[in-house]
Amino acid sequence: MTTVVTQEIPLVDLKAQYATIRDEVRAAIDEVLESMQLTIGPNVRAFDQEFASYIGTKHSIGVGSGTDALQLAIRACGVSPGDEVITVSHTFFATVEAILYASARPILVDVDERSMLMDPAAVANAITARTKAIIPVHLYGRTVDLKPLRQIAQDRNIAVIEDAAQAHGALLDDGTKAGAGGRVGCFSFYCSKNLGAYGEAGSITTNDDRLADELRALREHGQSTRYYHPVVGYNARLDEIQAAILRIKLRRLERWNDRRRALARMYNERLAGSGIVTPEIPADARRHVFYTYTVRVPGGRRDALRKYLGDRGIGTQIHYPVPIHLQQSAEFLGYRQGDFPVTERVAEEVLSLPMFAELTDEQLERVAGAVRDFMKAM
Ligand SMILES: Cc1ncc(COP(=O)(O)O)c(C=O)c1O
Repeated sequence: MTTVVTQEIPLVDLKAQYATIRDEVRAAIDEVLESMQLTIGPNVRAFDQEFASYIGTKHSIGVGSGTDALQLAIRACGVSPGDEVITVSHTFFATVEAILYASARPILVDVDERSMLMDPAAVANAITARTKAIIPVHLYGRTVDLKPLRQIAQDRNIAVIEDAAQAHGALLDDGTKAGAGGRVGCFSFYCSKNLGAYGEAGSITTNDDRLADELRALREHGQSTRYYHPVVGYNARLDEIQAAILRIKLRRLERWNDRRRALARMYNERLAGSGIVTPEIPADARRHVFYTYTVRVPGGRRDALRKYLGDRGIGTQIHYPVPIHLQQSAEFLGYRQGDFPVTERVAEEVLSLPMFAELTDEQLERVAGAVRDFMKAM
């Protein structure tokens, strides 16, 4: 009897990507180490320029993480203790953490049923005289429609801060890149992202010269010139090794994103009619870059499907199982179960399937086949 050994298919395969850039990355790291210029130096300066040019903004300010990016952006936009900042409950925790770092009050809103992104009507209802900023989150690599948000924000001097941590290279409805559509854009280069460092890193993009200067000071302890600190800042520097790696990866980002989108189209075709709700691929100028390929599994079957796939060596993830308004640490905000019905339903139904540029057609067929088999048997 022969045993068929089926290879595991992880949610994200960082080793497969590394294999394609290993020599270049090692040479770049070596060069940084030989130079011993380890913090803001030639690579950070070059990456800041290259990333700004890619996003289409005047400035990019490399920082230590996506959370740093949000924290500094919120501060630079003048959010003060007691101010209100509107964002969604269906996001990664850091979006709200960064608001709390400023001692501001997060005002959470529900998401739209189809896109699972910020509902502009809910934002309009949440505006008060204390609203200082709105943070739309381009979750999963799909962009929020910023037009209505800009309209709401414009007349009231409210800042639109894009959380583009999951949307490197995604396009807004007017064809500009995510991160170039608000006052500031915040990116994470966490290792699994479409553009991921080999450690922690992030960036803030903006067209505003004054804000850019302030952000550059804030990332280095608020100093204007060395050891002169007109404001109290942070240690939020991007390091040279990460910047050197990001420069190598940035050159491949468009190609990797194209492959992600092709894979998403294949998944959608293979899963059509299976009972799974597949993600919409916008038909207009917007470009979804599929940081995750996240489906909805209705009828309370999500966790069983996850186990079924796990038993067959297929990695999945739930982005995210507990909405912010129901997190233990957010209890003091006073929200309750039932406050955001769409968000709560989404949290029970979402499941992310393997998605990374190196995923092969055969691997995708295996995942889609397993999902279809499970759904048929139910
Ligand atoms: C939507 C969102 N916001 C913020 C962050 C925070 O980024 P980081 O982990 O780089 O601090 C992440 C990253 O994981 C994210 O997905």
